[in-house]
Amino acid sequence: MCGIVAYIGHRVAKPILLEGLKRLEYRGYDSAGIAVLEGNKLNLCKAVGRVSMLEEKLENKEGFDGSLGLCHTRWATHGGVTDFNAHPHRDDRHGIALVHNGIIENYAALKTYLQEKGHRFASETDTEVLAMLISELYEGDLEAAVQAALREVTGAYAIAVICEKEPGTLVVARKGSPLLVGIGNDEHVVASDAAAIVAHTTQAFMLDDYNVVKISKDGFRTSDIHNTPLTPKITQLEIDLQEIELGGYSHFMLKEIYEQPKALRACVSGRMDLREGRVVLGGLTNFAKELTKARRVILTAQGTALHAAMIGRYMLEDLVKIPSTTEYASEFRYRNPVIEENTVVVAVSQSGETADTLAALHEAKERGALALGVINVVGSTIARETDAGVYLRVGPEIGVASTKAFTGQVAALALVTFFMARKRLMSADQCREFMQEMEAIPGKIERILELDSKIKSITEKYVERENWLFLGRGYNYPTALEGALKLKEISYIHAEGMPAAEMKHGPIALINEGMPAVFIANRGRQYEKVMSNIQEVRSRGGHVIAVATEGDNEIRKYVQDVMYIPDVCEPLSPLLAVVPLQLMAYHAAVLRGHDVDKPRNLAKSVTVE
Ligand code: F6R
Repeated sequence: MCGIVAYIGHRVAKPILLEGLKRLEYRGYDSAGIAVLEGNKLNLCKAVGRVSMLEEKLENKEGFDGSLGLCHTRWATHGGVTDFNAHPHRDDRHGIALVHNGIIENYAALKTYLQEKGHRFASETDTEVLAMLISELYEGDLEAAVQAALREVTGAYAIAVICEKEPGTLVVARKGSPLLVGIGNDEHVVASDAAAIVAHTTQAFMLDDYNVVKISKDGFRTSDIHNTPLTPKITQLEIDLQEIELGGYSHFMLKEIYEQPKALRACVSGRMDLREGRVVLGGLTNFAKELTKARRVILTAQGTALHAAMIGRYMLEDLVKIPSTTEYASEFRYRNPVIEENTVVVAVSQSGETADTLAALHEAKERGALALGVINVVGSTIARETDAGVYLRVGPEIGVASTKAFTGQVAALALVTFFMARKRLMSADQCREFMQEMEAIPGKIERILELDSKIKSITEKYVERENWLFLGRGYNYPTALEGALKLKEISYIHAEGMPAAEMKHGPIALINEGMPAVFIANRGRQYEKVMSNIQEVRSRGGHVIAVATEGDNEIRKYVQDVMYIPDVCEPLSPLLAVVPLQLMAYHAAVLRGHDVDKPRNLAKSVTVE
């Protein structure tokens, strides 16, 4: 989604801003823009398309050599993808430029009011309304005008504002959309994502809701929208630059698929006490009592995170014997859900910023649930608003198609399951067995990755087909959903995932000669049943690609192609079964000539409901 970078300091702002924008490209966007104050003159440049188009437009343009500026990548919400609608938006009365992430919900009423005051609008956006409102309220103090304007708006925002009349001042503010201030030597870099800051400094603070920060080259002042001074909590950003660079891989998605063994080792490291046969989750220790007497778990998320949550639900019911459900956060939030006493709600999210998941979390808390988070981004909004939680520790995920975060979510949910199960019915020995299985997972994923070229050649056989099915049962029904989602997201092939048994209740009508049907057919309780479903597809001309357990040679008789995974206990089998599906999706997209890391229409972190 939208990205913000702003700079104030002693260096020329433009290259720092553009480099920062490039680091945010992975989040998805459709246009980009920049504003720089050179002397007392504000200069803007905007372009539809990639940041590289903006760079081209800026070549040989004068007036962009100042040391104060801001820039933006826009993912359209209000108004089409045009130069006019791209940010920054400017007001000519005072020479104010503003970039904004989020949505100003009462923009229509404010726009009418401002039009009556004589303001003319160049765009269809809600953001321009905020720029004009700040201008309307400007009386020689940008910080005060921003505070006054923000007292009038409803909605979500992260903003950065500059003004020709105050060439040494950058004002930024936040409500509901992340924004960080990086503190360097006589310079500050502000961004909506740490990835745009870490090349310059690792000292930073995250704005809280309703915070306004007035920044100059060598200092800053933090307050709320009523001008009450605040002291921000400065922390050390724990992102290594290498983690957000390609490091020899052709795409971030591929890099992150290959990073999974390392990421999962980090996820479980220090959390499994094999000697005692128990899981140690510092974040949950203070809530052990509540978790012991919990009577229901509701896991809520969107997209890939929801698929991980579904696997978590199967684990909780299977191993903790606690009634559990999964909910699309967007549906849960608005359907007046019943939350009984002793309910635990688990929000699962890579970014920790997904607006739907955040809204569901608010709803659950209001209705008295204990709110847990299974989150990747440390200090993100959801992580901060939950009562307790478990971080994934898989490192930054840049690829828009989620891969290592999915396996990290499943692994973290497995740890939560073992933690809760030990408090109820699981013996130390049983727990130890599961933990030993978990310890072996990274090595087993490494073995699957060695088969990458084989998986690629299988993908080549089917890549021209426009309709695919992904089928699985039990723990691997959500894996089938995830396989289908990965394929459609980046290769734009239509794919449906479903429980293998459901197919014969309707979708079987779709099967025609040569239609690829990917079955997750690893050894487990439902193996025989999956094999029957495979026959049903074969007898109608479908081509079956099976994910099967090493050593299962028999399956070759019934399917066209096999991708083998090592043997593994059922609850953890999705951690292996998903890997060939991730690789298939990746290869299909590359073979079709798509930009895997910048899939059309998609955003990395969806911060609007
Ligand atoms: C798919 C994907 C999305 C996200 C979803 C939730 O590859 O990445 O479906 O899983 O938008 O995002 P988070 O996990 O950040 O809440």
